[in-house]
Amino acid sequence: KIIVLDFGSQYNQLITRRIREFGVYSELLSHKTTAAEIKKIAPKGIIFSGGPNSVYDDGAFRVDPEIFNLGIPVLGICYGMQLMAHILPGGKVEPADNKEYGKAVITVKDKDAMLFKGLPTEQTVWMSHGDLVTQAPDGFKTVATSANCPISSIANDEKKFYGIQFHAEVRNTEYGNDILRRFAFDVCGARDNWTMDDFIDMQVKKIRETVGDKKVLLALSGGVDSSVVGVLLHKAIGNQLTSIFVDHGLLRKNEAQQVMDSLAGKFGLNIIKVDAQKRFLDKLKGVTDPEKKRKIIGNEFIQVFNDEAQKLDGIKFLAQGTLYTDVIESGTDTAQTIKSHHNVGGLPKDMDFKLIEPLRTLFKDEVRELGEKLGMPHNLVWRQPFPGPGLGIRVIGEVTEEKLKIVRDADAILREEIAKAGLDKKIWQYFVALPGIRSVGVMGDGRTYDYAVAIRAVTSIDGMTADFAQIPWDVLQTVSVRIVNEVKHVNRVMYDVTSKPPATIEYE
Ligand code: XMP
Repeated sequence: KIIVLDFGSQYNQLITRRIREFGVYSELLSHKTTAAEIKKIAPKGIIFSGGPNSVYDDGAFRVDPEIFNLGIPVLGICYGMQLMAHILPGGKVEPADNKEYGKAVITVKDKDAMLFKGLPTEQTVWMSHGDLVTQAPDGFKTVATSANCPISSIANDEKKFYGIQFHAEVRNTEYGNDILRRFAFDVCGARDNWTMDDFIDMQVKKIRETVGDKKVLLALSGGVDSSVVGVLLHKAIGNQLTSIFVDHGLLRKNEAQQVMDSLAGKFGLNIIKVDAQKRFLDKLKGVTDPEKKRKIIGNEFIQVFNDEAQKLDGIKFLAQGTLYTDVIESGTDTAQTIKSHHNVGGLPKDMDFKLIEPLRTLFKDEVRELGEKLGMPHNLVWRQPFPGPGLGIRVIGEVTEEKLKIVRDADAILREEIAKAGLDKKIWQYFVALPGIRSVGVMGDGRTYDYAVAIRAVTSIDGMTADFAQIPWDVLQTVSVRIVNEVKHVNRVMYDVTSKPPATIEYE
């Protein structure tokens, strides 16, 4: 494996991800990891990530200098390279006259340089730095330069220490992947034999070591992340895991049942299912303001979860499906003590837990791959994003049992037809909302005065911006005919053709 030491760059997880894509296991560790600890891990190589500090800042992240005596290859990226130059004798780092952010062109001076072998002499790279290495440490040569950064890359082949001032891990660096490959394979001699199965074995072992014979609690939402955590933990510790699944009555059609059938049924998880539909509906009665609805649903969820958790004895760990994207703080310790009053996700009060977050190093698509490897059903693993407040924010205005049923039934038809048309993985999110409009229609020989429903479908990369999806007319037609025929109290189907911005994906 190759480890990445974390100096706080926003790109640091991308480095581990690129390496894993090569078939070499990689994970991010705290910059505080000592040389002795690294020796025990025995990685094939070490990468120092970038970071926001200057090496001269008070409290700038440092590294155990003994790491340079382990005989393990090191690649410093951006701040990582500056730190090497700062620590190793002869090197010098200074503030740059012009800070450099964005695209730059480097010239490779040494055609045989390990990291650039076989690559073009001129390359576009992505720079982001305020300081510069102005003198390479003893024993290093400068192998690439650029207009604003005369020392863009340094190399010490004898010790196998390398530095690049630019970010090889971002797509904007033309040959970034090739450079990282050369480090992983040519310099470190890593082998491309790592798979997701190895990740499972490793996590299972780690979870067993961490948990011992203690008990773990998990809040299951029915979403991809918490479900995968549940199955993984169950594989590791079986019934030492208890899951709480709060059914707030705002899930899609048959969803709660599917979660139970699959996770409790097929995988044998010990799940306490709390039927709290009534509690939520009562609280939502008469409430029309979207933000109020959200707050009520969020608070009630925590309350219900707490009430159940209080009934359990001897829980020492709380498992969460945190992904890399959710990890804000630097550092990747697998178990970190948190106090309940610091919680955001709804921990029971007055209880101290340790947190287990086995997906912390993964990206969403890696979690899906993991789920598939664990044998989880397709519809769970490829579930589209679904908001925490659920259908509560897709019924516009007051939420009632009747309206929920309409949305649920119409939404189920849409999902069925989208899947039939083979579009389910192409569209980021697609659902039916109930805008609360009633309109006149004619059915058979009679006049109707019933609800209109809206089809919302968008393509997106991260949900921050979105385009309305262009569902083929024949699919829309089938959906429309089926909805008005099969869902009682609907006499009109509308298709939302607004992008985000200016609209949002959800209606509330
Ligand atoms: P909007 O409507 O803001 O949604 O364009 C962007 C993405 O976020 C999801 N979403 C939520 N997810 N709790 C969640 O967990 C929420 O309150 C919430 N509101 C919106 C939405 O489904 C879309 O994917």
